[in-house]
Amino acid sequence: MTETTRRGFVTSTVGALGAGAVLANLGSSAQTSFAAELETTVDDRAFWTLVQAQFRLEPGLLYFNNASLGPSPGLVADATEHYRRTLDAFPSRWMWGGWNDDMESVRRRGAALLGASAEEIALIHNTTEGMNLIAHSLELEPGDEIIAADHEHWSGTIPWEYWQAPKGVRLVRPTLPLVPTEPDEIVDAYRRAITPRTRVISMCHVVNTNGMILPVKEVSALARERGIPVAVDGAQAPGQIDVDLHDLGCDFYAASAHKWLFSPKGVGIFYARQESQPMLRPLIVAHGWEDTSIRRLENYNTRNLPEVLGLGTAFDFQQIMGSQRRSARILELKRRFRGRLEGDPAFKIKTPADDRLSAGIQTVEIIGRDVLEVASELADHHRIDCRPMTSHGLNGLRISLSVFNSEDQIAALTAALREASAG
Ligand SMILES: Cc1ncc(COP(=O)(O)O)c(C=O)c1O
Repeated sequence: MTETTRRGFVTSTVGALGAGAVLANLGSSAQTSFAAELETTVDDRAFWTLVQAQFRLEPGLLYFNNASLGPSPGLVADATEHYRRTLDAFPSRWMWGGWNDDMESVRRRGAALLGASAEEIALIHNTTEGMNLIAHSLELEPGDEIIAADHEHWSGTIPWEYWQAPKGVRLVRPTLPLVPTEPDEIVDAYRRAITPRTRVISMCHVVNTNGMILPVKEVSALARERGIPVAVDGAQAPGQIDVDLHDLGCDFYAASAHKWLFSPKGVGIFYARQESQPMLRPLIVAHGWEDTSIRRLENYNTRNLPEVLGLGTAFDFQQIMGSQRRSARILELKRRFRGRLEGDPAFKIKTPADDRLSAGIQTVEIIGRDVLEVASELADHHRIDCRPMTSHGLNGLRISLSVFNSEDQIAALTAALREASAG
């Protein structure tokens, strides 16, 4: 959905969802007043200060670890708490049907945010589950090959590795360029890995090691020509970069909402292109399993409904900020961070610079220092949380730059990195 202003958000959302759903979305007065306050805030710095004030991180904590787990803003946390209290006030009513329409509204809001139809979105628990669901579903035969490049997270490889012995399938692990300058370099690595035995390409949208954005659209086009399904691990993408699922053209996409979408913990989104849905089998079967819609993939019986409804508020939070404005802000933070380190021989940034190839995750090596030691120094001396990365010879700190981070925090971070560099 395109948008530039909060008013635009409301108008275009009415178009996508219907007035009733929007009233329900904006039902919380905190949400309406936050949206109104942002709408009247012209100054960019003031706008982001208002957004930052929504987060309840410990005072003094410099949290550069959104790629591990995101904090929920007050709006999302309070809405979820409200749903928990409502559930506890009359458990059987809400768990067994009372929230059916609200669940459908969450599905529609997620679909609108991610460029899909509601009939292609299941509300699951996390990326790991979504990748398992795909690997469990596909009918694979001995000798079949699954392409999963060397930067895949284990949530994207283990579900396939698990079937190597029982089904006799084989993982093919192409090496991706570590710091490419053109997306085509990555597309080429996938192209070279395809053989007549390739049955699926399983790939990240944004890798968790150095934050590289993979060209899912181009690889999907390549695969489609050859009739190969593409399964995407989107754990690090929605909320960090713009995601338009129809435009990407992949078959399946699994994402965790508790990272860059700031949802309550333990909720995720699963997308299956309408035409590819017949390939899928639910991981869990329960009463109602005969349902042929995408809802059959989320049929868990008793489940964490307050968190799922809180996910709806997390979608709203993104819409209130504006997805494009959020993405632009993250790129601005990236520019500021890189600008402070680039050209300094004490540091090596091991993430591609180009905005087509990276956004809010940047991995930096401090030359001559062991990353594990540096990470604990940063935590102990500066209360900086970020993730040390040792794989792929990175020896680097993975810095996540998100909308709750400020320019001042980036200045404090880079000063601490210089101190660590000096030894
Ligand atoms: C690329 C990637 N895939 C999958 C996961 C697993 O996410 P979850 O534990 O939410 O399933 C992560 C978590 O960091 C990740 O970075």
